[in-house]
Amino acid sequence: MRYLKFALAKGRLANKLLDLFENIGITMDEMRDPDTRKLIFTNEELGIEMFLAKASDVPTYVEYGAADIGVVGKDTLLEAGRKLYEVLDLGFGKCRMCVCGPAEAAELLEHGRLIRVASKYPEIARDYFYNRRHQTVEIIKLNGSVELAPIVGLSEVIVDIVETGTTLRENGLTVLDEICPLSARMVVNPVSMKMENARIRELIRRIREQLPQ
Ligand code: PRP
Repeated sequence: MRYLKFALAKGRLANKLLDLFENIGITMDEMRDPDTRKLIFTNEELGIEMFLAKASDVPTYVEYGAADIGVVGKDTLLEAGRKLYEVLDLGFGKCRMCVCGPAEAAELLEHGRLIRVASKYPEIARDYFYNRRHQTVEIIKLNGSVELAPIVGLSEVIVDIVETGTTLRENGLTVLDEICPLSARMVVNPVSMKMENARIRELIRRIREQLPQ
């Protein structure tokens, strides 16, 4: 039997997925060890291999077929824009992609001004401003702590993930518009979907049974 290969986004999503897998009898004990530096884990009995990758690289592994299946946030999938089948909304890691800024910046959006938008997600920001709002903006790519940008005057607004809203609140910022809801998704390589159809469909069916309706 060929190994079914999974690429998982490192961190919280991977741990949640392991819980889900345990419920359907797929165990990867070694992966639970917080001190391990190993990147690939195998369950020989079930013919499964799992590896941990940086979230933004998961769609790449799956598109090229280095992994048959990926588990990653919808934010990363939208930003990467790769040709994958999105087969399951796993329902965890829920948050929202939003346009945020100081309350006064709402006016700049309404009047379609040429503003600067800082984001870790330049493609999502571009799609939102150009295709949904038809507003020309300057997009500035950042790599983290994006909330800083409007505070120090790098940009008027940001496009970023809001989960509890604490980061915004503690920095005097607010949600100006919601772009889309986000959560962890399972994606499949289109060729793997054909070649390993029965195994993958059975896996999806068993996971779906575990998800709240
Ligand atoms: C994310 C996101 C926000 C924050 C939102 O950042 O970019 O900054 O979490 O969460 P909250 O609404 O619950 O406060 P992350 O912690 O991933 O780090 P980063 O700022 O380096 O991207």
